[in-house]
Amino acid sequence: MTHHSTARPVADLGHADLSFSLLQLAIAQRVASDLVLRPAEPADADTLVDLWHDGWHRTHAPLAPPELVERRTWEDFQSRIGSRLPQATVAEVDKTIVGFCSIKQSEIDQLYVAPLAWGTGTAQALLQDGLARLARNGVTVASLICAIGNWRAARFYEKMGWVNAGVVTLMTETSSGPLQVNGWRLEKSLATPAEQRREDAYAVLIHVAQPRRHFFNPAKMA
Ligand SMILES: CC(C)(COP(=O)(O)OP(=O)(O)OC[C@H]1O[C@@H](n2cnc3c(N)ncnc32)[C@H](O)[C@@H]1OP(=O)(O)O)[C@@H](O)C(=O)NCCC(=O)NCCS
Repeated sequence: MTHHSTARPVADLGHADLSFSLLQLAIAQRVASDLVLRPAEPADADTLVDLWHDGWHRTHAPLAPPELVERRTWEDFQSRIGSRLPQATVAEVDKTIVGFCSIKQSEIDQLYVAPLAWGTGTAQALLQDGLARLARNGVTVASLICAIGNWRAARFYEKMGWVNAGVVTLMTETSSGPLQVNGWRLEKSLATPAEQRREDAYAVLIHVAQPRRHFFNPAKMA
């Protein structure tokens, strides 16, 4: 992965047909080789609002109470992006933003990937980056809230090693005040810095010890 600083808008990626296509295959191949993660910048705000607003209405609106759907206008997302930018990483392919992940306290706060980049590993890269940032902040159990019935997301988190801790009731923020909703709370234990140091030291030991095995390998002694 490399690091760039300029972004192009997400264009119409979010409005593409969800079905598998040659275009998606091409994107998957590009993503595998050209994915760039970098910190979000103030200039990314509108692009991230487009991606977030489109992704939410595509996947969350059918699962949300009507009064919440009504409040989730483009301007509502715009009013909530500013505080997230300093805690967000964006994923780009060829300088086009295809996803972002923000963290808040001990949580993966928002993870949104443009539909054309679904199934390409972009979400995994963003989630791993978010978890690494949480771990650096000293978090040992990461959590997130997933909309009840968001099966694609639930399956994605399950394969990433998250566990469903059950239904919780929370006050979700909107530009016109908080609203009560239910959601699934998902959790994942993270290695503590001490555990990570031990794992790193062990990996170094294995690496250093590996060549010496040849001395005791009868096949090599022949
Ligand atoms: C959630 C999200 C980040 C996951 O990224 P992704 O690239 O789509 O994830 P993947 O393709 O790696 O994994 C999705 C899994 O769900 C499976 N899946 C797809 N539709 C499904 C459904 N209706 N029911 C159950 N599983 C489903 C896929 O087959 C895949 O599992 P597999 O790899 O075992 O085959 C992405 O879909 C997204 O941005 N969605 C919109 C925003 C969102 O919901 N964010 C999460 C908020 S908590």
